[in-house]
Amino acid sequence: MEPIRIPPQPVSPPVIEVRASARAAAERLAEDARHGLSGDFKELPPKYFYDERGSRLFEQITELAEYYPTRAERAILALHSDAIVAAADFPGELVELGSGSATKTRALLDAMRDAGCLDGYVPVDISEQISRETAAAIGAEYPGIAVHGVVCDFEHDLEDLPARGDRIIAFLGGTIGNFAPPERRAFLRRLAALMGDRDVLLLGTDLVKDADALELAYDDPGGVTAEFNKNVLRVLNRELGADFDLDAFEHVARFDIANQRIDIRLRSVRAQRVVLTGLDLAVDFEAGEEMRTELSCKFTEASLRRAYHEAGLELVELWTDPEGRFALSLARAS
Ligand code: AVJ
Repeated sequence: MEPIRIPPQPVSPPVIEVRASARAAAERLAEDARHGLSGDFKELPPKYFYDERGSRLFEQITELAEYYPTRAERAILALHSDAIVAAADFPGELVELGSGSATKTRALLDAMRDAGCLDGYVPVDISEQISRETAAAIGAEYPGIAVHGVVCDFEHDLEDLPARGDRIIAFLGGTIGNFAPPERRAFLRRLAALMGDRDVLLLGTDLVKDADALELAYDDPGGVTAEFNKNVLRVLNRELGADFDLDAFEHVARFDIANQRIDIRLRSVRAQRVVLTGLDLAVDFEAGEEMRTELSCKFTEASLRRAYHEAGLELVELWTDPEGRFALSLARAS
């Protein structure tokens, strides 16, 4: 007779949901590139840096001596995660926008687990592969919690993320700095609108500092950031059948003091015509013409308070690394 086996109580495995917005990326690239290359001032959105090669280059940037934000943010999380979780009033769930491999997130998850409040983690990322790896790893490291990954373009799906009443919505790394003020306001307003009374936003922001230090962080002598910047041209060459000559563009990163932001460009070293067969478009560059590829806005506590205020949010508490280079702040809908 067969013995009766009682299966072990199943721990629910991580759930990964792949949304249509993750797959529609190719069409948006075409639209964004046509729009960005057709005007007088040329501009490409920074999200297209991050194909596999670009993501690897960014990982390399985070390890550069000159690029302090990642280390500074990690230091804040290592020092203050317990205080952050307490100030957030011990929420049950962590929703992370742009979770990637979630290397920094573990400090927060540890603090939530140690405080006894952690029941769920919702990593949100555009890359299906990274999301699957991250969800599996977190599921194994934090047994008993619900991991529900969402693969999407979070700018598109923000209002449709799994919702419960007590979340930390984390947007780390300083990526909010990629938005120009009007887009930032709109994005933060959308977040404010979906936050309940017990939800908090945990936002990573790079801080205003000496222009030389900032420019060095975005123009390392080893040229990794230049490669990262030019990667968007490779993406256009591959995805849109373009013929950008990478040697005919130079990396430029300047601190725009008046607007408190790093302004990253690719400068055409000569007059040239670029053809994008996939868009049926020809684009002329003058010698020395610059095309913006990224903004990275820097904040002070005062400008951050204003950014929250104009979006219907209210600063609860702010932490910086010991050297005061980067801030993590907690906000509630006001
Ligand atoms: C990923 C947007 C936070 O702005 O510092 C790093 C991207 N660009 N070096 C930043 C970036 C060039 C980075 N963010």
